[in-house]
Amino acid sequence: MALKDHSNNVISLSKRIEAKNRYPHPLKPKNRKGSTRVIAITSGKGGVGKTNIVANLGYAFSNLGKNVLILDADVGLGNLDVLLGLAPKYNLSHVIMGEKRLNEIIVPGPGNIQILPASSGIQELTSLSQDQKIRLLTEIDELIDSVDVLLIDTAAGISTNVMDFSVSAHEIIVVVSPEPTSITDAYALMKVLSLKYSEKCCYLLTNLVANAQEGKEVFRQLNVVTNRFLDIDVDYLGSVVFDKRVTTCVKHQKIVCELYPDTAASRCYHDLAHKISKRRPKKFPQGDTNLFWHHLVQHNASI
Ligand SMILES: Nc1ncnc2c1ncn2[C@@H]1O[C@H](COP(=O)(O)OP(=O)(O)O)[C@@H](O)[C@H]1O
Ligand SMILES: [Mg+2]
Repeated sequence: MALKDHSNNVISLSKRIEAKNRYPHPLKPKNRKGSTRVIAITSGKGGVGKTNIVANLGYAFSNLGKNVLILDADVGLGNLDVLLGLAPKYNLSHVIMGEKRLNEIIVPGPGNIQILPASSGIQELTSLSQDQKIRLLTEIDELIDSVDVLLIDTAAGISTNVMDFSVSAHEIIVVVSPEPTSITDAYALMKVLSLKYSEKCCYLLTNLVANAQEGKEVFRQLNVVTNRFLDIDVDYLGSVVFDKRVTTCVKHQKIVCELYPDTAASRCYHDLAHKISKRRPKKFPQGDTNLFWHHLVQHNASI
């Protein structure tokens, strides 16, 4: 896209944000502006448990009294709604096509969590245009102040869709399993985060581990190479153990924290939510605009 088009996009977005600041959003902000925590959960390899982590972490945050919104950002192949047994009438594709506003597609999930469902099987959405991305991120910006935590469930891999959603968040959690292919793909993802997007830090979360010790060992292996070759600080968040009850719940379209609150995996999800909520966010937006907007400005060259 020509540079002139980029600047037009940014100017029109800037006008919308100015207008938003003049006229309050219909969803009355519960938070002080800018206090929402935006966390992206991503991975190099697919099938490592991101969607289950997002849903269960969301539920655990909600139990801690947080107002939680989950964005299914696996835009073309989203399945968070299926995991939760929901059948939403509208989804992100309607927002991207300009037919619905983001707050019109929200559906209630388990606990008090709110879900922004993605579409499934629309190939064109697996690679959003810059206009579509800007429309979506602007709408997210407008919604964000009404929640305490926004969790973003990204697709796997290093596509621009995935990377844009990840680096737009305040914190990135990279999920990895003990399989060598998952470890090498996690490294590849961190390499792109560091080299192409200048990310300085991310969290690592191990899933499907036999025990906490195995999780730490996976982190150690990855950390040796990231420390040596990349300028990114990888902070170990913890692990979720392999628990066959997770699979049982997936089959019943329920989340394990709801159905088996005392099983091993549920305890891990709750511990993680506690840990995250106790830690200071890695970064918050500067000034009085949200981070999505800052991201668009920062990466203007690639818009
Ligand atoms: N902690 C766990 N224990 C056992 N199975 C798990 C666990 N986490 C995820 N799974 C299984 O892995 C599969 C993939 O999980 P999912 O959350 O859909 O991964 P992703 O979103 O990364 O593709 C699920 O069907 C689920 O059965
Ligand atoms: Mg998923």
